[in-house]
Amino acid sequence: MAKLDGHVAAITGAAGGIGQAIATRFAAEGAAVALLDLDLDGATKIADDLAKTGARAVATRIDVTDEHSVEAAFKDVASSIGAVDILVNSAAIADGAPIAEMQTDMWDRMFAINLRGTFLCCRAALPGMQEKGWGRIVNMASEVAMRGHPGLSHYAASKAGVIAMTKCLALEVAGDNIRANVVAPGPTDTSMLSEIDEETLANLISELMPIGRLGKPEEIAAAALYLASDDADFCIGTTLNINGGTYRQ
Ligand SMILES: NC(=O)c1ccc[n+]([C@@H]2O[C@H](COP(=O)([O-])OP(=O)(O)OC[C@H]3O[C@@H](n4cnc5c(N)ncnc54)[C@H](O)[C@@H]3O)[C@@H](O)[C@H]2O)c1
Repeated sequence: MAKLDGHVAAITGAAGGIGQAIATRFAAEGAAVALLDLDLDGATKIADDLAKTGARAVATRIDVTDEHSVEAAFKDVASSIGAVDILVNSAAIADGAPIAEMQTDMWDRMFAINLRGTFLCCRAALPGMQEKGWGRIVNMASEVAMRGHPGLSHYAASKAGVIAMTKCLALEVAGDNIRANVVAPGPTDTSMLSEIDEETLANLISELMPIGRLGKPEEIAAAALYLASDDADFCIGTTLNINGGTYRQ
């Protein structure tokens, strides 16, 4: 039996590199998957490719900053493939500026997507999980939340918020047989890093990453799979660091 047979997984940011890898891995493990993203075309193409392999996969547009869009997306998923009992919050943005130069709307947008969006999606998924008496929530943070990095205060703070929020949520729902945990990836080879020039990226890898390379989205998906499965029943509000050695705890 595959690890996620009989489950319905919603992955936000599923048109992105890590979200796509998670949707693909979860589908291979038997889950019906809902690929939720602002980029509906991107999510639909991935869902169509997964469906060709025999997986149950649907794509739905979501803007995680908008509570109406979030509620509507979870209703759509429930009526097409069933109530979500596994949620992965992978939707996020990243950009950079030192605090002295950061515009207020840049700060607010980061929190609206990375933290508020994660909160709204967790809240929307909980009733179905509580009704079922089983649920898994995996929130994506970043090693930057623990390590810090110049120019990334808004991103790092939003991800530290995700970690803190998940600890509280995990305690609130542990008695409902729902597990909430975090994956904190290190620099991973996706479009999120595409605006960093090659020389800067090479320097970042040599200074920060003893492994000497970027992470692969599939390596992050393996961590998400662990936390989404019954194997992680004993994990409550933990953060799994998958980062090639940038940060060690
Ligand atoms: N790639 C890395 O180096 C890295 C490192 C640490 C943590 N992470 C985290 O991993 C997760 C996935 O990152 P990725 O590398 O796949 O990024 P990505 O940029 O490839 O994908 C992010 C996805 O989020 C979607 N998105 C953005 N705003 C949205 C909104 N308002 N509503 C719905 N969807 C929205 C985008 O359309 C995109 O498909 C993120 O939470 C990111 O912060 C990534």
